[in-house]
Amino acid sequence: MHVPTLTLWCFCMLVALASGSPGGRWPIGLGMSKYVSSFLGGAVININQTETTGKEEELPAIRTVSAEWNIPWSKAPDNADLSNPNNRHSLAQWVGILGNGCANKNWYPFLQAGTNIEMDEHGAIVAGAWVEWFPAGAHPIPKENFAVSPGDQIMVVVNVYTRILGHVYMKNLRTGQEYTAEVEADSPKDPKFQICLGSGVAQFFQEWDIAKDRENLPIFSNVTFSSMTTIDRRGEFYDLTSGTEDYWTMIDAGRQVAIPEGIDSKSFVVYSPQGKTWTPRGSH
Ligand SMILES: *[C@@H]1O[C@H](CO)[C@@H](O)[C@H](O)[C@H]1NC(C)=O
Ligand SMILES: *[C@@H]1O[C@H](CO)[C@@H](O)[C@H](O)[C@H]1NC(C)=O
Repeated sequence: MHVPTLTLWCFCMLVALASGSPGGRWPIGLGMSKYVSSFLGGAVININQTETTGKEEELPAIRTVSAEWNIPWSKAPDNADLSNPNNRHSLAQWVGILGNGCANKNWYPFLQAGTNIEMDEHGAIVAGAWVEWFPAGAHPIPKENFAVSPGDQIMVVVNVYTRILGHVYMKNLRTGQEYTAEVEADSPKDPKFQICLGSGVAQFFQEWDIAKDRENLPIFSNVTFSSMTTIDRRGEFYDLTSGTEDYWTMIDAGRQVAIPEGIDSKSFVVYSPQGKTWTPRGSH
């Protein structure tokens, strides 16, 4: 079985953060319009830092982000040579919490958790789940603790309690299996791991693990994020109609890879141009 190279996502994220976003800065401020990324497709909800006094000022703006989604299937084009790892795509689906006001503009610590799908040399797809406190690498969750398969509907809840402590809850809605974990930043004393104050960003993404432009794009079945929840430090709820949401389209070398499309206030779909009419065999 192919072992996911999860840490690569961080590397890619870092590269794009340093060079990709407008003004050289992620994530960009409140209420901005659409964004384009070569490896991220999805939606964000931006939240102002809440006005508080005393101790609470030291806490990131967003406390809770959650969503349900279906783990997608992916397939290779008929002519793809799958003995070449560059033709075997890896995709991740995740939610995360980030704060904007870092003292150093090159820091983007955030807590994220979600799923990933990997393709082997025969085109078979396997799925996994993971938790990551960026800029550390992803921690895969052992299958015996939380097992997921393509086609499963899962729920993931990410909480940030303090700048270095959080909590992750996952449930596989097909099997009923649950996973919970207290999470601490991998290097809690290092300021570049401490989630920043200032405005916060709730993240709902499909990510493409890509090290360089590939000949073939990933083809995946629709991923629908639903029951999306974003809660700020005071307990206020936000959704895709709050007026501070942004959609991110994934475009690589001029080619559309993943396109988000709003459904209602708490859901949107991410689709690939070649996969959007595909109903995978074996899907539930
Ligand atoms: C967020 O803060 C900015 C700047 O302080 C302000 O202009 C904007 O109205 C605020 N947005 C919301 C949704 O409160
Ligand atoms: C995938 O989503 C797109 C965009 O909403 C839609 O046009 C398409 O019918 C969906 N595909 C399936 C198989 O549901």
